[in-house]
Amino acid sequence: RQYSFYGHEGQVGISTPPQRHIMYMTFDLTTSTRQDLQVLLARWSSAIAQLMKGGTIGQVEPARDSGVGMDTGEAMDLGPASLTVTVGLGPRVFTDTFGLTQHKPVLMRNLMQLPSDDMQPELTGGDLSLQACADDPQVAYHAIRDLARIAKSTGAAQTRWTVMGFGRASAGKGQSTPRNLFGFKDGTRNITEKADFDKYVWIKDGGPAWQQNGSYQVVRKIKIHIESWDTDRVSDQNNVFGRHKVSGAPLTGTKEFDTPDFKKKDADGNLIIPATAHISLASHENNQGIKILRRSYNYTDGLNNMAQLDAGLLFISYQKDPAQFEALQTRLGSSDALNEYISHIGSGIFFVPPAPKEGSYIGAEMF
Ligand code: HEM
Repeated sequence: RQYSFYGHEGQVGISTPPQRHIMYMTFDLTTSTRQDLQVLLARWSSAIAQLMKGGTIGQVEPARDSGVGMDTGEAMDLGPASLTVTVGLGPRVFTDTFGLTQHKPVLMRNLMQLPSDDMQPELTGGDLSLQACADDPQVAYHAIRDLARIAKSTGAAQTRWTVMGFGRASAGKGQSTPRNLFGFKDGTRNITEKADFDKYVWIKDGGPAWQQNGSYQVVRKIKIHIESWDTDRVSDQNNVFGRHKVSGAPLTGTKEFDTPDFKKKDADGNLIIPATAHISLASHENNQGIKILRRSYNYTDGLNNMAQLDAGLLFISYQKDPAQFEALQTRLGSSDALNEYISHIGSGIFFVPPAPKEGSYIGAEMF
């Protein structure tokens, strides 16, 4: 499948169905001139449009002996593989350094300190983000590699942190629900309908016209304590999520898409879905109707220095207001039964402008 970078409502890679793999990278701006930033966003945009067609972004094998390839070549012959690249702008873009303060999206700010935070500075923050998703991991990797090369060659930005995800852990409309590394179906109750995208994901009011259909991207690198989870009884694991591991059904139902009943009690008067279960604390029924779009991926970093599996969830959510994420994570971070098995070790927030029109580029209206 092939997507176009241009002319959508919001940027691609948000409401488009999650592909199988991700390569996610953040960057620090190393320039303090607005023009360098403008050139980088323009060059990235035209390169992304080419990459998403399955093309190269210049010569792979230059005719001159002294020539260095424009494109590194490893995605040749692999096709578009449903590649989408989504560009995010971090809080420091909209500052006096770049003369862009007046273009700051109304709700743009750093995330508040949250109860679960165990952040490693080298996995946190960033001035720009690139989310490349594809059905072939090499296509996603190639896109980020060659876009990072462009950043380096312009002298405008350098890599800050990166995560390669090997399996989608969220479902879009019509997709079967995949599983996260806990072995549970993830994405059963996610945003899929246009009305919900308009209500919870796309910015539809407030701010200048060019920011309409933008969104805020929140990313969290969440480590899973796999060894300890793997020794837990499955009945306890079910209580941690409030769902059955195999079927994905809520503990009050029998089928995956049964609506959870958060008030139902057993014969002893105990809630069947515990109040500390992940879905109980995260559901819109128990959060004044708040919803977010989750578009997460499983990742692994191999082994840690204790020779334990080092893996987790690259959690990515999209919302029209960062406060939607903060409200949910404030509750989850303090009470979620899942906290015994996870640590939030990385974090970032980015404004994702709407898709550019053909011939234009990301954020052009700011310059
Ligand atoms: C639901 C896993 C972190 C928000 C779920 C479900 C699973 C899951 C298995 C149930 C199936 C579903 O409806 O998708 C995880 C894992 C996490 C994690 C493994 C971390 C490693 C988070 C975070 C947030 C969040 C950080 C937001 C701050 C939600 C929401 C739901 C949900 C809103 C839907 C609840 C409902 O309406 O029933 N998650 N999650 N999750 N999760 Fe998470």
